[in-house]
Amino acid sequence: MSSDERIRVGVIGCGSIAQIMHLPYLRELDDRFAISALCDVSPGTLAAVAAKYGVPDEHCFADYHDLCASPAIDAVLICSSGSHVPPALAALAADKHALVEKPLCYTRREAQAFAAAAQAARERSGIVTQLAYMKRYDPGYQYGQRRVRAMQAAGSLFFVDARHMHPSNDLYTAHHPVHRAPDVPAAVRAAGQREHQAALTESLGPEATAAQRGAFGTLMGSSIHDIYSLRGLLGRPEAIVAIEVWGRNIAALLRYPNGVRVSYTWADLGQLREFRQEFACYGADERVTITFPSPFLRSAPTIVTLQAMEAGQDGPVHTETRVTASYEEAFKREWLHFHECITQGREPRTGAEAAQHDTEFIIELARAIR
Ligand SMILES: NC(=O)c1ccc[n+]([C@@H]2O[C@H](COP(=O)([O-])OP(=O)(O)OC[C@H]3O[C@@H](n4cnc5c(N)ncnc54)[C@H](O)[C@@H]3O)[C@@H](O)[C@H]2O)c1
Repeated sequence: MSSDERIRVGVIGCGSIAQIMHLPYLRELDDRFAISALCDVSPGTLAAVAAKYGVPDEHCFADYHDLCASPAIDAVLICSSGSHVPPALAALAADKHALVEKPLCYTRREAQAFAAAAQAARERSGIVTQLAYMKRYDPGYQYGQRRVRAMQAAGSLFFVDARHMHPSNDLYTAHHPVHRAPDVPAAVRAAGQREHQAALTESLGPEATAAQRGAFGTLMGSSIHDIYSLRGLLGRPEAIVAIEVWGRNIAALLRYPNGVRVSYTWADLGQLREFRQEFACYGADERVTITFPSPFLRSAPTIVTLQAMEAGQDGPVHTETRVTASYEEAFKREWLHFHECITQGREPRTGAEAAQHDTEFIIELARAIR
């Protein structure tokens, strides 16, 4: 830690999500964190972000191994492109705490290596490894989670209608100032693409169809938010009853503990700026609906709608209550949790083992596509 007890963070991957969310919130939380080092394979992006956040040249790196080895940091944020396991392994080997963006990786082998390294670093040096599953830290989600878990404990929850209607990200990010330089060396880009294709083949097999390979990218890149959020509500999924892909769209029927079925849809809205991610959870005589905003809108609240019946003068009446739990941003709250875990020895709510299971489940989902 720095002399003033702040956690010194090194950021690996200084692109959109680092610039839109993580770096601004790290700066806001400057009583707890210092932005101490940066790494990016784009020299122009690295220089622009370093200038904005006042990170000196000697703490700016093109290679994440150098950043991870630096004595100037205590923790890393990993939000580069491609698999996050190689930089995570480098960070954990150097006894640095790690906050790791989704998706973790694209193969079972890497997910297992990550979970094992996280456990070893925890036992060896008390290192914290947290997945940046920000929706699990969203106050609206957490309010809904308490209600859904109560329904589940009472044995009344039987069905979840989960839908994720996804327009082009640009429609929600264009208003944010993002510095991006088109100067990533061609060899680095080509190596990244080769590694990604090899990972797809390793996970889906050499005979995988174009539909499977395409859907795998969507499942890992976007549906992962649904998979980890549903696990937080319902527990680990037990079975894939059915899955169908058409175009870029995906529909699935999934079975969760206590017989709960989830009807899941991910649809490509293209240029229609109407992001919608919603879990409608049905119990006996009640429904709890959690409606998330686009992740790129800072402090836009997740709304929970509670519907039930109550006794009225002339018989039962339907009631609907709309809950705005808070305007606290999920991306900021995940950093507060990371800080608490490091300074108070707590286990992260979204740890490495869960990320391994999510990765394995998504591989199963893609393999089940016919
Ligand atoms: N939690 C969320 O809602 C959310 C939203 C957007 C993106 N993400 C995740 O964050 C990650 C980055 O996404 P993005 O939208 O910021 O992408 P991006 O392309 O804008 O940024 C990625 C940055 O990483 C750099 N980079 C690539 N390989 C690198 C390497 N080996 N070492 C160092 N730097 C490297 C690139 O040059 C680029 O600047 C992805 O894993 C993505 O899934 C999460």
